Amino acid sequence: MRITLILAILQGCVGVDEDEAPAVLMYIYLLFQLCCCVGVDEDEAPAVLICVGVDEDEAPAVLMYICVFQLCCCVGVDEDEAPAVLMYICVFQLCCCVGVDEDEAPAVLMYICVFQLCCCVGVDEDEAPAVLMYICVFQLCCCSSCVGVDEDEAPDIDIYHCPNCEKTDGKSTMKNKKRNKQDTGQSGDIRAVQNGSQVFIKELRSRTFPSSEDVVVKLNGSQLTMDYLEEVGFNEPILVLKKDGLGMSMPAPTFYINDVENHVGPDVGVDVIDVTKQTDSKMKLKEFVDYYYSTSRKKVLNIINLEFSDKRMDSIVESPQIVRRLSWVENYWPDDALLGKPKVTKYCLIGVKDSYTDFHIECGGASVWYHVLKGEKIFFLIKPTSANLSLYERWRSSANHTEMFFADQVDKCYKCTLKQGQTLFIPSGWINAVLTPVDTLAFSGHFVHNLSVEMQMRAYEVEKRLKVNCLTPFPNFETACWYVGRHLLERFKVVYSVCPSYGLLSR
Ligand SMILES: *[C@@H]1O[C@H](CO)[C@@H](O)[C@H](O)[C@H]1NC(C)=O
Ligand SMILES: *[C@@H]1O[C@H](CO)[C@@H](O)[C@H](O)[C@H]1NC(C)=O
Ligand SMILES: *[C@@H]1O[C@H](CO)[C@@H](O)[C@H](O)[C@H]1NC(C)=O
Ligand SMILES: *[C@@H]1O[C@H](CO)[C@@H](O)[C@H](O)[C@H]1NC(C)=O
Ligand SMILES: *[C@@H]1O[C@H](CO)[C@@H](O)[C@H](O)[C@H]1NC(C)=O
Repeated sequence: MRITLILAILQGCVGVDEDEAPAVLMYIYLLFQLCCCVGVDEDEAPAVLICVGVDEDEAPAVLMYICVFQLCCCVGVDEDEAPAVLMYICVFQLCCCVGVDEDEAPAVLMYICVFQLCCCVGVDEDEAPAVLMYICVFQLCCCSSCVGVDEDEAPDIDIYHCPNCEKTDGKSTMKNKKRNKQDTGQSGDIRAVQNGSQVFIKELRSRTFPSSEDVVVKLNGSQLTMDYLEEVGFNEPILVLKKDGLGMSMPAPTFYINDVENHVGPDVGVDVIDVTKQTDSKMKLKEFVDYYYSTSRKKVLNIINLEFSDKRMDSIVESPQIVRRLSWVENYWPDDALLGKPKVTKYCLIGVKDSYTDFHIECGGASVWYHVLKGEKIFFLIKPTSANLSLYERWRSSANHTEMFFADQVDKCYKCTLKQGQTLFIPSGWINAVLTPVDTLAFSGHFVHNLSVEMQMRAYEVEKRLKVNCLTPFPNFETACWYVGRHLLERFKVVYSVCPSYGLLSR
């Protein structure tokens, strides 16, 4: 009986791929919130889903997804379920690798990964399905560590050669970049307003904007608590003038760029943005530091995503306590996960005077904290209303967006100056640009969390549609969502039995 039912569920498994994971999570989340907080019975759940905006005819499918998800999570399988699980493996194998579209690259990479495990790492061929299943189940779609390919690079690979094959056949070949650009109609490179020219920066400095006083909430460190956020929400930026009470550690104000070099390592590769050209390149940290201290700088270079949570500097910078309390990655990413924990928690930002980062939304709809240790940053902030988000999407997808100042297209863009020693929290989805008016050393971190699930989803959807690279990627975002889903499921199991008619939880 149970097997028949599981098979019935499997037929519903037509599309829970990694793209949909966040949506599934969203549904689980809504259902959970409603069941738990509003006190809805599980047989009322379809009606509730309809209330929260799931179409009547979608409701059964959504519940089905929840069931499938539940099955996915149950890796400890009972003996009598084994045949069904084998069936499940087959289904997933079929689902997992159908074509080699750019969109499907992560799935392909996963396949490569399994192949790699077979031929290079020494997993037997007949163990591969189990490995694949494991990967599928947790949507661990980009096992970059075992193929030696970064997630971002995967779509650019034309023919992949594994490390062993490289010895005889040479390196993997890459797709023709030019052709690729024409194909998609846009490049993934970072470009900014009006060619990022210094003429533009001068104009920007002299323009007036509505003051962020109207919108930014000022708190002292000890007021920014979980209770506060749960009551008021986290929909407006929060400015904290002094770091006391934030539970944050920062180096002394005497700490500077050469200390960063010492604590991160001179040979570490960093992404450096040439602000005037708005191009991105890699260099060694020591080369950047030499540039920084040189007497005549010929360029305006900006570092915005030097993530250092695995470097020695990690021990002297601690993110605000509220961030650690909220963060999905810090709370739900298992230590023994196959994939690396998303490295988004600690960034060091080194911007020289007149650096500029154009309007963007953080990857995965992440919220961000910034602390200026020395110098100053000016943020241009636009509220993520539906209307503003559509305008943003239209602007960002137009080929000439670099020539248009996005703030001109919305009715209000707030200017918020973050001075030395101050900390700013920008909520999920806020469209923002950043100007660095003087040489500045700042720290920041990205986090996704419970209080902004809907906005995170919307930002994620915008990002998917735009198909442009994020300034600061959120690696394995989807997997992080799955882990939260798993946590919610555990909570579900305690509070309710989901889909009791399938009997999945009745044992
Ligand atoms: C930037 O673009 C503007 C107009 O699009 C042009 O007048 C200006 O010369 C350009 N500046 C640079 C540095 O390329
Ligand atoms: C923070 O603000 C609250 C309320 O205004 C006040 O009671 C408290 O003393 C302040 N704490 C600090 C450290 O300034
Ligand atoms: C997020 O929300 C879920 C469900 O309400 C809860 O179980 C969990 O503890 C929350 N997580 C964090 C980090 O606050
Ligand atoms: C766009 O955002 C601004 C704040 O940046 C807000 O005042 C305005 O109401 C929003 N516009 C619309 C049409 O939602
Ligand atoms: C950018 O392109 C749009 C049409 O796609 C056009 O309306 C607009 O004037 C262009 N802007 C600039 C600055 O060239």
